[in-house]
Amino acid sequence: MNAHFKQDEPVTTNRLDDMKQGLLGQPVPRSDGLAKVTGTAPYAAEYPVENCAEGVLVGATITKGRVVSIDKEGALAMPGVLAVIDDERLTTRAAQGTAGEAPVQSPRTIDYWGQPIALVVAETFAQARDAAKQIGVEYASEDGAPLDPEAVEAEESEDETVRQGDLDAAMADAAHAIDVTIETGGHASAAMEPHASIAQWDGDKVTVHASLQMLNYNIDELADSLGVEAKNVRLVSRYVGGGFGSKLGVSEDVVSASIAARELGRPVRVTMSRQQVFQMIMRRSETRQRLRLASDDAGDLTGFGHEARVSNLPGETFAEPVLQSSHFLYSGANRALKLEVARIHRMTAGSVRAPGEAVGMPALEAAMDELAEKAGVDPVEFRLRNIPERNPEEDLPFGSHKLAECLKQGAKAFGWESGPRKPRQRQDGEWWRGTGMASAARVHNVGEAKARVTLKSDGTAIVQTDMTDIGTGTYTILGQVAGEMLGLPLERVLVELGDTRHPAGPGSGGSWGAASAGSAVYVACNALRAKLAEMADVSEDELSLADGKAGNRTLRDLLDGEELSVEGHYEPGDISDGYTASGFGAFFAEVRVNRFTGETRVERMVGAFGFGRVLNPKTARSQCLGGMTWSIGVALTEKLLFDPGDGHLVNCDLAEYHVPVNRDVPDVEVVFVEERDPVASPIQAKGIGELGMCGGAAAIANAIYNASGARVYHYPMTPDRVLAALPE
Ligand code: MOS
Repeated sequence: MNAHFKQDEPVTTNRLDDMKQGLLGQPVPRSDGLAKVTGTAPYAAEYPVENCAEGVLVGATITKGRVVSIDKEGALAMPGVLAVIDDERLTTRAAQGTAGEAPVQSPRTIDYWGQPIALVVAETFAQARDAAKQIGVEYASEDGAPLDPEAVEAEESEDETVRQGDLDAAMADAAHAIDVTIETGGHASAAMEPHASIAQWDGDKVTVHASLQMLNYNIDELADSLGVEAKNVRLVSRYVGGGFGSKLGVSEDVVSASIAARELGRPVRVTMSRQQVFQMIMRRSETRQRLRLASDDAGDLTGFGHEARVSNLPGETFAEPVLQSSHFLYSGANRALKLEVARIHRMTAGSVRAPGEAVGMPALEAAMDELAEKAGVDPVEFRLRNIPERNPEEDLPFGSHKLAECLKQGAKAFGWESGPRKPRQRQDGEWWRGTGMASAARVHNVGEAKARVTLKSDGTAIVQTDMTDIGTGTYTILGQVAGEMLGLPLERVLVELGDTRHPAGPGSGGSWGAASAGSAVYVACNALRAKLAEMADVSEDELSLADGKAGNRTLRDLLDGEELSVEGHYEPGDISDGYTASGFGAFFAEVRVNRFTGETRVERMVGAFGFGRVLNPKTARSQCLGGMTWSIGVALTEKLLFDPGDGHLVNCDLAEYHVPVNRDVPDVEVVFVEERDPVASPIQAKGIGELGMCGGAAAIANAIYNASGARVYHYPMTPDRVLAALPE
């Protein structure tokens, strides 16, 4: 049986608000938690496969040019080496930009240092690694490839351009105006689990255990890369140790393992080293952003300008969407928005956690702080004043908009002292102390999703979709949605994910997973409920399901040996043409800044968020904590460094690329603002994960200013930059 729901209209009432099980919205622990902490949840590289050969990728050691020859014979003479694969299908840039897009074809040409050019396969990993290190490669290198985004002319990305009114005039006439340029560093996804794949062929069919976020799209990408039909490809990603964008598309481990396994006629595993993940997969672009903001005397915005430059390789379609929230977050009739891309030969730029807002919001919100100060308005009040009634560019209503509530509830939880502010008011030994705040916004996305829900005759249920759980809690929340709808405790619902044998899910990306996959399960369960009501001879409204019972009959008794199975299909529909949907929030931070070293320590943070229905407050809170931890990295420590000579990524491991560690992360408090968003999804839920980092860095930056008087225009705000920006 199939059930389909396409959302063209707001969903204002919802069956989920009238359920008896009491499972949804409860902070139940992750159903996969025990397997993970006891090491029994197998990750991609850990599946036991007999007779598996080991592959190690070889990266280019030139920046631009082509491979003339590879000394295969030399490598094959080394101990244990079985093959050197340098198939041209390897040097495609496999869909690293936008999932589902065709790979950029560039056979045997090299566009960045570190680009994979070959795979060495051997009996053991050590043998493969050794040969990969020593293999002789002759290149024809082209000099003069541009490496520095500052040194090339950037191309305008027309779709992002907005011109409304006259910003120049608004700036000239404003009572208060600021014109600042803020730079942000490039970032790495730095997921805990490095990329790895095991490929096995059975005739024309290949099965790959891999670490991927979006199986339903990845299957087409891999089929394209291999030149085979998608129906012959099966992908399995049951457990994924984080992705943060780096596993949205198939990477070279997946493609090369598949090619090698076919050639050798035996399974091949390719695991990337941490350094390879950093240098081969993708980077978040550095950005340079000009903010021009103008207000009248009372602090109402009259002009809003946000113009950004990002970078990527020539030919790549992805451009860090820095302006995404700027299009609708604040009012201001005179608007100028522009996005430019500089074409340089650093590694591919792509999606890294909250692409766009992760770096756009920290720049905008630091500029807002500066204008609030100039206008003499409290920064919370300044934002409250400038929340638009409707999307100011497209004149669309918002589905639900909780920015004001987030600002107020966050301020209350933090103990924000409102009023005009002056920097450097609190000193504590060699430290200055200060506070800062920022808004959060992240566009809400959903994707088409299918899920099969089977109610077995014994009164248990199975949920199946190729949706992934990348550490977010998908196993748990899909079990909760099904359990709630069918009146079953969580232990009677089995959730099977991460296998393309199951119905096509939306994948995990852009924070759309829970709302989209959850809606597919909801659609399937609604159809099951209709069937159960019919069997129980009551109306659907009268049907009361809880604890494995329908009214006073057990489900087992009602089903009488029958098994019911429904494939639920949720489609986003036209609703997004008529409404703007976004998650909103507010961050508050207290920091101390060392007077002598410029070091910043975050003392505490509060984040208040509105993202529609909270499916599980425990997993939702964890998403927010993770996002706020990313904010600390953006604000203080994370920045990719590229060699100016050949463009290679220098800080390519966790010793050199500094993600926040325990000592960097203080008490973090998360406040949920009650919300149901009728346009976001049929279950009225929105995305969570990325929202938690969209602007948080600015709360820290603004606190650094409040503490020390240093306005720093570069993220991350490392001690040298803070010292240089101190007033005296
Ligand atoms: Mo996210 S950067 O869309 O995985």
